[in-house]
Amino acid sequence: MTKALIVLLGILFYLIQILQALPDLNNHRTAKPETLQSKVAQHDLVTKKVPIKIYYETLCPASVDFFINDLGPAVELLEPHINVLLVPYGHAETWPSRGSYKFNCQHGSDECHGNRIHACAIHEIQNNSRAAIFNVCLMTHTLRRDNRMDFFTALNLCGNQMSVNSISEIWNCAVTSRGALLLKNYGEETKRVRPRYVPHVTYGEENQIFYSGNLTAAICDQIKIKPQVCQY
Ligand SMILES: *[C@@H]1O[C@H](CO)[C@@H](O)[C@H](O)[C@H]1NC(C)=O
Ligand SMILES: *[C@@H]1O[C@H](CO)[C@@H](O)[C@H](O)[C@H]1NC(C)=O
Repeated sequence: MTKALIVLLGILFYLIQILQALPDLNNHRTAKPETLQSKVAQHDLVTKKVPIKIYYETLCPASVDFFINDLGPAVELLEPHINVLLVPYGHAETWPSRGSYKFNCQHGSDECHGNRIHACAIHEIQNNSRAAIFNVCLMTHTLRRDNRMDFFTALNLCGNQMSVNSISEIWNCAVTSRGALLLKNYGEETKRVRPRYVPHVTYGEENQIFYSGNLTAAICDQIKIKPQVCQY
């Protein structure tokens, strides 16, 4: 009995060694920073999370209002049941410039800066729900403010509040060509949809267009086995 167990453990140990020696095929980091969207969409099919996609821009009052009053509470309440994909671009324009990109944003260059910070936060935080909560925090602290220092202050404040320790990476990304590339990709994603107004919110398997004024209720509608918060 004990002998058999030892042999079995030996074999297991050997197998683990072999598995660890194999190259990790899933973990290649691509050279160019991509948005997480397509990876995540495939994931949804397995987990049955409700996908929610939000096209927005950081200094648009309607977007700010949506983040604070609707998105924030919905993510807090329903985090395990949703997959939030943020697309911070809105009605901006992109053009190539010296090997990178420049942007024109509806609410001026400060908004472009804000969009880049949001894009870089999503990229660095690597968890859509956490990134959404983080960007809700940024929205709360940059409301009706419009200069770069405010974004810097908000970034540090939210970083402390949420123990996000990649604040300097987010800032560096935002002010360099990495952030520009992320924003350019979000621009392409936005232009495929051509939203007339922002925030433009889609949800559910078919990504219907939606804005009812209560995201929590809309998500609850989509969940087959209702969690406690949806039972009212
Ligand atoms: C992602 O973030 C949410 C919200 O902070 C957290 O509840 C969840 O466990 C995180 N997921 C992973 C895979 O770390
Ligand atoms: C949204 O709907 C939920 C569920 O019906 C409700 O608990 C919540 O108070 C509503 N929020 C707003 C802002 O109306």
